[in-house]
Amino acid sequence: MSAGVATLLRSSWKRSRVGLALLLTLAGGGLVLRAWLQQPRREVEQGGLRLRLERAVWLHEPTDHGDAARLPGAAGAPGPGQRRLVVEVTAFNPRGTPLDFTPGELRLADATRGTEWTPVEADPAVFTVGPARMLPVTLSFDVPPTPGPVRLEWVRGSERATLLATGRPPTPGVSRTQSRWPLRVEELPPGREGAGSVLFHGRLACASCHGGLARVEGPRIAPFLGDFSRVGATRVAGKSAAQYAYESLLDPNAFIAPECVAGVPCARPSVMPLYGESVTQQEMADLVRYLVGLQGGG
Ligand code: HEC
Repeated sequence: MSAGVATLLRSSWKRSRVGLALLLTLAGGGLVLRAWLQQPRREVEQGGLRLRLERAVWLHEPTDHGDAARLPGAAGAPGPGQRRLVVEVTAFNPRGTPLDFTPGELRLADATRGTEWTPVEADPAVFTVGPARMLPVTLSFDVPPTPGPVRLEWVRGSERATLLATGRPPTPGVSRTQSRWPLRVEELPPGREGAGSVLFHGRLACASCHGGLARVEGPRIAPFLGDFSRVGATRVAGKSAAQYAYESLLDPNAFIAPECVAGVPCARPSVMPLYGESVTQQEMADLVRYLVGLQGGG
């Protein structure tokens, strides 16, 4: 599996280099250049401003309970039946003069249908980034649950770059045979604990809700995961801690943990984001390995 992903990465890298070589020799280079530019890049500079994609997570469908996801900085609940992608970017101004950044420069595009969505409730409508300053910006995109890939694009003046390509999460309850995820956690590539830790504390920000894993105390809104190898195995009869962690990450609502913070039951539906569209199989394996590799509460 991991070899497959690696080959894919290698071949797309090769393709982009071949694309560049062609560009230098062919008159029709414009088309090649466009294809090359459309490879997602997490960090791009356009119109003097540098933008780095920090994180992008899909949230659950809202419910009629009016639950809003508690991701810091996220706008109110998405409309009924919509899927929400929450995107965190850092804008950096390397220049000596202030630059404006308009959230509407970011679009979520469904290329196959030719549809584009701008962020919801972007406030303020324009950010000013001072010279040599960094500005974190969180935006939400609400899209219909139609299957099919979407791309996060940054349009600034006449320039356009793709920051992310992602599928929309399947509607809960959709058969797993239609999903790219295997049924059993053992079918994933071998996980690496260190890489899982980096994801947990970094890009996927699991720690922002679950807190650190070293001690039970500390600010968090979600269950303590420091003794997950023991607790996880007791959650669903017949499921190992690893299998349960895997299924929780793909569909947090399949089983709701009983207690989030001491004495406080977890809300239903779960506020945990859907990670199935934001991680690779290798990253999923790394996360599970990290959680299950942890022994005891210390
Ligand atoms: C926005 C907050 C939030 C984020 C971010 C988040 N979670 Fe959760 N998570 C929750 C909540 C709330 C629950 C309890 C409700 C439930 O079972 O879904 C939970 C439950 C879990 C459970 C089941 C725990 C149990 O005791 O049964 C696991 C495992 C888990 N999360 C792992 C992760 C991992 C790994 C990440 C990062 C990839 C992550 N979570 C990110 C909020 C979050």
